[in-house]
Amino acid sequence: MDEAGELRAAIEAIVGAEHVTTAESELERHGHDESWHETARPDLVVFPGSTEEVAAVVRACHARRVPMIPFGAGSSLEGNVAALTGGVSIDLTRMNRILSVRPEDLDATIEAGVTRRQLEERLREDGVFFSVDPGADATLGGMAATGASGTTAVRYGTMRENVLSLTVVTADGEIMRTRSRARKSSAGYDLTHLLIGSEGTLGVITELTVKLHPLPEATASAIVNFPTVRDAVEAATETIQMGLPVARVELADEVTMHAIAQRSELPVAERPTLFFDLHGSESGVQEHAAALADIVAAHGAEGYEWSTDPAECRRIWHARHQVYEATVALRPGCRGMPTDVCVPVSRLADCIEESRADLTASGVFAPIVGHVGDGNFHLTIVVDPNSDEEVAAARGLSERLVKRAIEMEGTCTGEHGVGIGKVKYLALEHDPETMAMMRRIKDAMDPLGLMNPGKVLSA
Ligand code: LAC
Ligand code: ZN
Repeated sequence: MDEAGELRAAIEAIVGAEHVTTAESELERHGHDESWHETARPDLVVFPGSTEEVAAVVRACHARRVPMIPFGAGSSLEGNVAALTGGVSIDLTRMNRILSVRPEDLDATIEAGVTRRQLEERLREDGVFFSVDPGADATLGGMAATGASGTTAVRYGTMRENVLSLTVVTADGEIMRTRSRARKSSAGYDLTHLLIGSEGTLGVITELTVKLHPLPEATASAIVNFPTVRDAVEAATETIQMGLPVARVELADEVTMHAIAQRSELPVAERPTLFFDLHGSESGVQEHAAALADIVAAHGAEGYEWSTDPAECRRIWHARHQVYEATVALRPGCRGMPTDVCVPVSRLADCIEESRADLTASGVFAPIVGHVGDGNFHLTIVVDPNSDEEVAAARGLSERLVKRAIEMEGTCTGEHGVGIGKVKYLALEHDPETMAMMRRIKDAMDPLGLMNPGKVLSA
């Protein structure tokens, strides 16, 4: 038997032959995510059913020096799952059990392959919710590995603030739990946060204990139009600076609103817009809506209404969540190249304005959408992959945006992670000493360099 056949037999003995595949379509699907980055296929895909099976698969790969790439929903946006040097894609989607929900402690323990919507459905019966909402129906393991966030981070935080503990299979196949379920702990190094955002380069996340929140008594949503993007951004920034506890405040420029208009049954104006969401008591929501009314009016907004009807609010947020697909669909045959920077909120209006001037000058199709309460925004660049000229212009725009954000004391990625796309920018953002420490951590936790090679740090 050749080496590949021998590895396959070893993995089949662990998980059962029906949970191992080398079918072309599955290798293809596991070689890319939802971004423009080129596909790099793994040699084999395995679907383990438990943490113990993951550990045994990792030991089999480790013994044979075979690279491993953990895989969830494949909804990442920076090429985070591409198998750059081949190897085994460890697909965690069979591990989709919700192990325990404890409303009295406001936490839940789940397997890594549970998806966001699956968890949301299950939690509703207990009157609690999990807050992190990237839009895509990502797996929770993938969201932790990426350090994901999305629309609600402004109020409830990102994955970093909402994971209490992780179960992780290390690069050599040991099983470790990063910490207890206690809300607070000063007991030792914070391995939980080291693993969040590690993108499968330090180990495989197999279980998570996450924080839950009580469902708010009242919610209200509104779509508010502004004369210019700058007005909208300044209104959002002022909202944050005043300490108004908005649950979401999302920017969409006029082209993004055009994309939404094509997809959604919502009657939206194709103008610069903020989507707001308020959560709280009935009186609290009313009070905050009144305070917001003053802020947005001072920035030129008029003619909007708050909706408290749950179905209408769902439609509004569904429309926002479709932005990426809707924007890419505006140019049939083209691919999305989303960017993802984050700057201190006081710099956001300038960063967006300079970026808009840049994209106009460079002729790249790149509507703007953003989680502006956090200073985080995306240019949804859509390129014709067959046009070298377009791809080069888009890359240039994207690189200048990263540099602009870093110069403004921001970051090259707010929430999509490093993947392949941002590897070369880490050293721009971090000191040489910081980079050296990251590399020492990688070497300590994955000395053979088998875990998702070429991601986060260059191989
Ligand atoms: C969004 C994704 C692209 O915000 O992060 O829609
Ligand atoms: Zn986003």
